[in-house]
Amino acid sequence: MTTHHDTHGHTGQERASRDEVAMARMLELDSEVLAPYLAELTGWLSALTHSAPVRILDLGSGPGTGSLALARQFPAAAVTAVDISARMLHRLREQAAAHGAADRISTLAANVDTSWDEISERGPYDLMWAAAFLHHVADPGRTLTQAFENLRPGGLLVVTEMDFFPLFLPDDTGTGRPGLEARLHTATNTQPLHEWTAQLQRTGFIVEAKRPFEIRLDGAQAGPAVNDYAQTCLAKLRSHAADALDGDDSAAWDALLDPARPNSVARRDDLSVRTTRTAWIARRP
Ligand SMILES: C[S@@+](CC[C@H](N)C(=O)[O-])C[C@H]1O[C@@H](n2cnc3c(N)ncnc32)[C@H](O)[C@@H]1O
Repeated sequence: MTTHHDTHGHTGQERASRDEVAMARMLELDSEVLAPYLAELTGWLSALTHSAPVRILDLGSGPGTGSLALARQFPAAAVTAVDISARMLHRLREQAAAHGAADRISTLAANVDTSWDEISERGPYDLMWAAAFLHHVADPGRTLTQAFENLRPGGLLVVTEMDFFPLFLPDDTGTGRPGLEARLHTATNTQPLHEWTAQLQRTGFIVEAKRPFEIRLDGAQAGPAVNDYAQTCLAKLRSHAADALDGDDSAAWDALLDPARPNSVARRDDLSVRTTRTAWIARRP
């Protein structure tokens, strides 16, 4: 078998695992900086549950920030975290152990686009959580049907989506022309927002609520992880928009992402976080 290397000498497999590590890091920073949002969401969810969930399924768990938040919110529950990525699940187990929740969170490596047999064996579930996940699957309608069938009557499914990449920078960064981050966003925000209400209803769910969360955190509220979080997110956004910026904007963006520069994203003290998330809470009747 031939192994393909890129121009830096990395194999596709090395690149994929590097991407997964970077993604896990970004998701963990996201939950650290956006902890108030996650606490508000799980608190709201708790108010909508009729009885304390015992079995929870975290679909596309990634490194497990949702699994941990759910284990915290529902102390009597056992969480099954499902993901296609063994690396994400490895990280999840490390995090569960570090937070003293290893006995309450178990992992299952599975592709939800194929068989749900192993997922079903651990069910039926009282609560399911699908955060920033449903748009990843091959056939969301089929996944929702599987979720419905594996949820006990009365149980809840929570679906969340990130509406757009967070904004962090002031309009004038002191590097390049003002409005740089806004231009990058305009160039990359070309997809319509995810909208799951009709599909949830077609599957048989009752949509109890659809709620936008407007997240506005200043530097102090976002805390010390905000520089790392912004650096990770903006580098990813940059990679999505390689050809979208003109030469001056590209050079300014690279300068902002260069941690060696004094007013780089990694070092500046004027970052804030502006983003929105949407959550649906649906009940199996
Ligand atoms: C954007 S991440 C979200 C992770 C986590 N829910 C969170 O909010 O931090 C999407 C996750 O879905 C997983 N995933 C994508 N397609 C999948 C599939 N078909 N079956 C299982 N997991 C999948 C990815 O490996 C990744 O960890």
